Amino acid sequence: MSFSFDGKEITAEPGQSVGAALIAAGYRSWRTTRHGGAPRGVFCGIGVCFDCLVVVNGRPNERACLTEAHPGDDVRSQEGAGRGDLAC
Ligand code: FES
Repeated sequence: MSFSFDGKEITAEPGQSVGAALIAAGYRSWRTTRHGGAPRGVFCGIGVCFDCLVVVNGRPNERACLTEAHPGDDVRSQEGAGRGDLAC
């Protein structure tokens, strides 16, 4: 099955997390911090650090490491708090 990430098709196994699928596809970062715009991706991998935030089907602040990938999901990278116009 597959989902989209910033408009690109990503293949995932059933039950695989969005974060695991992105790493398997070669991505290492998909979020920028609110302060300084530093790149972030999976750090803890267990839902503790919140470094891996993505926007899933329009919902910001979803943890990629805990979010199961579903066919047709629209996953997007996240700037700051999930709204580029509010990022600082
Ligand atoms: S990698 Fe830490 S919460 Fe997802």
